[in-house]
Amino acid sequence: MARADKQYAIIAGSGFQSFGDDSKGIIVSTIYGEPSGPIRELRYDDHTVYVLPRHGDDLMIPPHAINYRANLQALKQLDVDAIIAVNTVGIISKNTYPGQIAVPDQIIDYTWGRAHSLYEGVDKIDHIDFTQPFTENLRQDLMRAARTADVTVCDGGVYAACQGPRLETAAEVDRLGRDGADYVGMTAMPEASLAMELKLDYACLSLVVNFAAGRGKNAIHADIDTNTMTAKIQCMKVLHEFFGHVE
Ligand code: HPA
Repeated sequence: MARADKQYAIIAGSGFQSFGDDSKGIIVSTIYGEPSGPIRELRYDDHTVYVLPRHGDDLMIPPHAINYRANLQALKQLDVDAIIAVNTVGIISKNTYPGQIAVPDQIIDYTWGRAHSLYEGVDKIDHIDFTQPFTENLRQDLMRAARTADVTVCDGGVYAACQGPRLETAAEVDRLGRDGADYVGMTAMPEASLAMELKLDYACLSLVVNFAAGRGKNAIHADIDTNTMTAKIQCMKVLHEFFGHVE
């Protein structure tokens, strides 16, 4: 459940771009440029949760072109303490199925060419300890909310962050599987490490929307809309439980 002493933000991915869009949105500028869009305010009882649509309001910013540094820095400037990263993934292992959700506990980064650190052009540097890329307390709080809401969530697993925007080849997915990856997505890096550089709590709530390339019987896009809708309903239940009951 949400903690009363924390200011939370949701970075919302595909399928959630209109989340909280009845609020006007706060325009924030950062030394790294503009975030993906205005940051919205979602009201839960007596507290506010910020929402930042990762791909912009019209879903036109692809994963490799997102200004991750501006997004994370903008949330820091709003005094956010903890981020729930809602994203979509393909499933590689047999851990779970399309239509379900997962809270990964590890990452392998295959992205390239993304501005991935705040320590550039500034007068300090820190080598963050990224052994555990996600904030375990936040992961556990999300898992607890899921259990209370009676939502089946896959606890843990390795998220492979790929470059996109294309999906992978079957051979690439086989390699990710041999590397130990369970899920493949495109946005958790450098989001997770930037969050840690900024000392923000960070965990993913991942919607499993397809079998990764070569792992399913149907074409990848065949059932993606239905799976996204099913997983989105589960995700909304978890968020409702999480933010509706502040401890
Ligand atoms: N690969 C990469 N990213 C994704 C996938 C996938 O299969 N599904 C949803 N995001």
